Amino acid sequence: MKILVIGSGGREDALCWKLRKEKNKIYCASGNGGTERWGENVDINPQDLKGLTDFVKKEKIEITVVGPEAPLASGIVNYFEEKGFRIFGPSKEAAELETSKVFAKEFMRKNEIPTADFEIFNSEEKALKYILNKEFPIVIKADGLCGGKGVFICQDIETAKKAVHSLMADKVFGKQGERIVIEDCLIGEEVSCLAFVDGEDFLPLVSSQDHKAIFDQDKGPNTGGMGAYSPVSLITEKLSERIKKEILEKTIKGLLNLGIKFKGILYLGLMITCDGPKVLEFNVRFGDPEAQAIIPRLKSCLLEPIIGAIDGKLSNIRLEWDERTVLSVVLASSGYPEKYEAPKGIFGLDKLEDLKDILIFHSGTERREGKVWTKGGRVLSITGYGYDINEAKIRVYSAISNVQFEGMQFRRDIGAKEVRRTRKNPQI
Ligand code: AMP
Ligand code: GLY
Repeated sequence: MKILVIGSGGREDALCWKLRKEKNKIYCASGNGGTERWGENVDINPQDLKGLTDFVKKEKIEITVVGPEAPLASGIVNYFEEKGFRIFGPSKEAAELETSKVFAKEFMRKNEIPTADFEIFNSEEKALKYILNKEFPIVIKADGLCGGKGVFICQDIETAKKAVHSLMADKVFGKQGERIVIEDCLIGEEVSCLAFVDGEDFLPLVSSQDHKAIFDQDKGPNTGGMGAYSPVSLITEKLSERIKKEILEKTIKGLLNLGIKFKGILYLGLMITCDGPKVLEFNVRFGDPEAQAIIPRLKSCLLEPIIGAIDGKLSNIRLEWDERTVLSVVLASSGYPEKYEAPKGIFGLDKLEDLKDILIFHSGTERREGKVWTKGGRVLSITGYGYDINEAKIRVYSAISNVQFEGMQFRRDIGAKEVRRTRKNPQI
């Protein structure tokens, strides 16, 4: 089939890699230095909906797969469907689960989906009054999309006041912070649980864990994600069943009650607390870098559940997974997640090409003059298989020792929580 993948990150490179392995013809808008290994990069901005549908028509693309949230928020799926093109992803209305935290929290309250207790505010004065009586820490969130920067974990009242002021008075994120959520801080471990959804049925993917902070031991500011692994042994069969019953089923049913058929990937960002799983956030797409850890484990076809979700026919599809662990470490530019320097020449990638059980996924890269250059904050996801987390970790970090670019930074502790857990529970 002719497939167009929208986006230019490591997630999209992993999607293109897998879909190409399944013998499809791949186009990627706008792609990166990695995606052009699997097909053709197309220089159209993911927000240029008319440009994209013109291209789909001209090239007779059969399926479009959307990677990032921004085009979903702009209604790319509604636009394509109105024009009669097949596209994988939720409608603008369904995407509100990710694009509005106020919508998501009210939805969870109404549908009795476990999440942190919260209140919503549209006035600074009321928000400040409310936090006076709160026990700390508390979490303050801007309503809209803020590129992962709209969440403040506040340990004391001064930090909380500052967060409210910067969102509501200084309007650092403009309209996105006009309304805010103030919620209880949950204690536990975070896990990402994704599922294909076809409007009514769902098909869970294997569990994974992201590492959001820039530095080791979860220190420093949050990023888009500095590495991931799959599976997470914390997610036992029993817990998976609870997640299905208490969260996935209720979410899909709750949306149907609103007249919304969710089609695409539903991503639950969960905190596994001592009271069970609670939703921190919904995303409406594959995670990045979770996709780089999950997709290499998918032994069965990826296109089949994509088409199943579009056509409302997931119920007969079974996914087959590689039993091994996959771990993926992000190599980032100096300065990321703030201002970073680029382009820098990347050296040593050729040494990884023939390494057994190692995959290289590109994010912010481009190819020029026969060389690969950095072009973004997150640059590469070096990914590897292992019979367990320890072997995967050793394999990936030893591969990384071959790669270099000026200012390259990466976390040395991706998977460390799982390593500790498996040491405590040697039977896992
Ligand atoms: P969100 O975009 O809502 O997932 O928030 C970004 C990150 O902030 C999450 O991945 C968590 O690390 C943290 N976070 C968000 N909400 C809470 C909460 N209620 N309790 C503890 N940590 C949270
Ligand atoms: N890795 C987190 C996300 O994709 O939002």
